[in-house]
Amino acid sequence: MKSNLRVAIAGLGRLGKRHARQLAFTRGCELVAACSPLAEERAWARAELGLERCHDSLEPLLAASDVDAVVLVTPTSLHAEQTVAALRAGKHVLVEKPLALRVEDCERVQQVAREHPAQVAMVGFVRRFDPSYARAWEQVRDGRVGRPFLVRSQTCDLNDPEGFFVRFAPSSGGLFMDCSVHDIDLARWMLGNPRALRAFATGSIVLHPGLQECGDVDNGLALVEFEGGARAAFYASRTMPHGHETRTEVVGTEGILEIGHGAARDRVVARDAHGVSHAATADFFERFEQAFQLELGAFVDTCRGLSPARTTLADATEATRIAEAITRSLRSGAVESID
Ligand SMILES: NC(=O)c1ccc[n+]([C@@H]2O[C@H](COP(=O)([O-])OP(=O)(O)OC[C@H]3O[C@@H](n4cnc5c(N)ncnc54)[C@H](O)[C@@H]3O)[C@@H](O)[C@H]2O)c1
Repeated sequence: MKSNLRVAIAGLGRLGKRHARQLAFTRGCELVAACSPLAEERAWARAELGLERCHDSLEPLLAASDVDAVVLVTPTSLHAEQTVAALRAGKHVLVEKPLALRVEDCERVQQVAREHPAQVAMVGFVRRFDPSYARAWEQVRDGRVGRPFLVRSQTCDLNDPEGFFVRFAPSSGGLFMDCSVHDIDLARWMLGNPRALRAFATGSIVLHPGLQECGDVDNGLALVEFEGGARAAFYASRTMPHGHETRTEVVGTEGILEIGHGAARDRVVARDAHGVSHAATADFFERFEQAFQLELGAFVDTCRGLSPARTTLADATEATRIAEAITRSLRSGAVESID
């Protein structure tokens, strides 16, 4: 495909607005339409993006013959059915993570994607596009750490006293499905995609009692055993006092790689009467802004036939399978097998 990819975006919330802005700077594509059920979000798209075509539902985007691809940035509980509808309407799809909250829904999406082999279906595991994670993966692939056997990874968000994620919890799948799913995907990627066997999780509510109602926690730890001896340990938190801190260690027989040590926003360090300090990264977008832009560029290139897809539905299904088992373990208190 030589002409520009005509893209529509569904969902203009916290992340959707940012994706929409970045699409304007993405080579080889044109943002032609958007949808959101909220009038104020549609008004935002008209005012900020100059976008004329703003609908209150996905259907008109899927029916439009001049839309080649959709970017789904909607609540996770809608991802599977919207991805299926978009594929059946002949559109390429970039769907935000996780693909779905349940493995059977992921598998249904995979089945429909198999029936539409000409269309691209990518899942937004943005960290695979982050230059530091990508370089670390290349080093693991090239044997720098020998045989990798342990991944320790964390996703820790700045505490939000307003509790956005408490309202979000019923549709997000909870702390592990929403946050650790990134670390789970990274662990599989760094360890060479081993099959997961068992999971154990524990967690607590330290600041947000509203989470109790939906069985969620604001701090959690999980362990996963993989076939062949590899292991992963995950920590997720919604209550960091200083900023967003994503960090991963890949431990191998001949070395260790550490990606994202600390929460420093930039390379500015202040030394003064209070000691030595730096500003902290505020949120996931500040940490991964470049990766989000690279991800959109990769999606557009893949749809235009210029490069292979860098995230697959199969990987997304495995990430959901592991996150589901971890969430089951959090609730049961038992070690859960993964099959
Ligand atoms: N990759 C990442 O690091 C990352 C970060 C944040 C969020 N996400 C994912 O992005 C998705 C959205 O998260 P968010 O934080 O932007 O949530 P949000 O609640 O701020 O936004 C959701 C958007 O979807 C719209 N919406 C609701 N129902 C809809 C429907 N039926 N059709 C079309 N639009 C609909 C809402 O109006 C809103 O615009 C989630 O799946 C989340 O897991 C990924």
